[in-house]
Amino acid sequence: MSEPAATPATTRPFSEVPGPGGLRMIRNLINATGQRVDMLTPLSRMHQEFGAVAAQSSGLFDMVNLFGPEANRFVLMDKDGIFSSRKPWTQIMGRIFPNGLLLRDGEDHRHHRRILHQAFRRPVLRSYLERMNPMIEATLTDWGKREDLHAFPAIKELTLDMACHIFLGEDLGPETRRLNGAFEDMVAASMSRIRLRIPGLEFYRGLRGREFMIAFLGDRIEKKRASGGSDMFSLLCCAEDEEGNRLADQDVIDHMIFAMMAAHDTTTSTLTSITYELARNPEWQERVREESFAVGREQIEFEDIDRMPSLTWAMKETMRRYPPLPVIPRIALEPFEFGGYEIRAGALVVVSPIHTHHMPEWWSAPFTWDPERFSPERQEDARHTFQWVPFGGGPHHCLGFKFAETQIKGVLHQLLRRYRWSVPGGYRMPVQQAPISKPRDGLPISLQPLP
Ligand code: HEM
Repeated sequence: MSEPAATPATTRPFSEVPGPGGLRMIRNLINATGQRVDMLTPLSRMHQEFGAVAAQSSGLFDMVNLFGPEANRFVLMDKDGIFSSRKPWTQIMGRIFPNGLLLRDGEDHRHHRRILHQAFRRPVLRSYLERMNPMIEATLTDWGKREDLHAFPAIKELTLDMACHIFLGEDLGPETRRLNGAFEDMVAASMSRIRLRIPGLEFYRGLRGREFMIAFLGDRIEKKRASGGSDMFSLLCCAEDEEGNRLADQDVIDHMIFAMMAAHDTTTSTLTSITYELARNPEWQERVREESFAVGREQIEFEDIDRMPSLTWAMKETMRRYPPLPVIPRIALEPFEFGGYEIRAGALVVVSPIHTHHMPEWWSAPFTWDPERFSPERQEDARHTFQWVPFGGGPHHCLGFKFAETQIKGVLHQLLRRYRWSVPGGYRMPVQQAPISKPRDGLPISLQPLP
């Protein structure tokens, strides 16, 4: 398993970095910004053809793909502080989700992350789970009555309702629908190719959604600061840094909006993919069901999260096969060397969890869904600390990873105890891998209530 050293003895100039040219390069650059059914094949081809460093330069724009766990470590850990997360993420979502943690660099990022961390500590997650459980129960009862259930939209509705409830801490009644609508518009707009403020366009609706959210949250900040509540909004309103300074109102609003976005599509994606794999692998569905019954409670408690090893492996394996974020972008603030090449300052540098997760050098039978590869006996993921990176790594490592695990296990635990589920015979989920992994057909499933 030879991995390129970041700084080998000789370094070749940027102009010599190999990569696809002509139409293929233009197609890759256009596709990099949009919805993509298959992201993995072109990445794997580039890696095979050109090695660990592949450039796609158009004259106006340099994009460099770095492949493999060592590249992930180098870019994500960013020991020398040369990669900006703010710049690429601002280009992607800055007008709809400005000032979120991913859109901050350096000391500014560290400062805000320390404050936000207060809303993700274990006691706080425990109280979030207590709020989630009854919502999950009510939703699963409703699923059982539906004739034509599609997992993806049903899960999306649930995670969005949970996000509103847990993050905002209010039973909003009919306003939930309006808030969900505004939020959906924002998420859709952040992926729009045409970014003009023209009525009727998706992007326009996203901007209006943002204005609605700002007004909605802004109206409630004062009350939340005084409330001492345990929802994320109250916690962020009251969180302080080491000197006792609180976040400004606009920062609270921007972090809230960003966290809701970061939380809901990614968790929906993982829950949908694991629902699919457990339907296709009924022996695994039974295995994790037995584990859930062994917990001995209708609804899990926070301590149970770490007592479900088979479900943990199934979840990890699902995130390996279907990482919700297939690629992670950075912009180089300074020139740097990697794999024997000098890369220019200003280049868009992309590392690819989806590619690393399918490298045969690191995983046995990488296209097979095989949760036991994460078992203590096999520990395939322990060959390199950056070979399994669905949550990224380094300073921007996902702040919500434990929240996500709590939510995913909270939903699956109740689903497993109430229903057996399946997909139509011979069905294969048609996956759209980018910008966020999801089924193109919504994933039709049928539920059979357990006796
Ligand atoms: C399965 C679910 C999730 C996945 C796969 C996921 C993935 C990621 C990844 C890959 C990053 C780093 C991106 C980069 O470095 O450019 C990230 C960052 C982040 N995630 Fe998640 N995420 C998930 C759930 C959540 C949840 C539930 C929350 C909040 C409740 C959340 C909040 C955040 C935040 C705030 C950041 C920015 C951290 C920083 O910049 O310091 N995520 N996530």
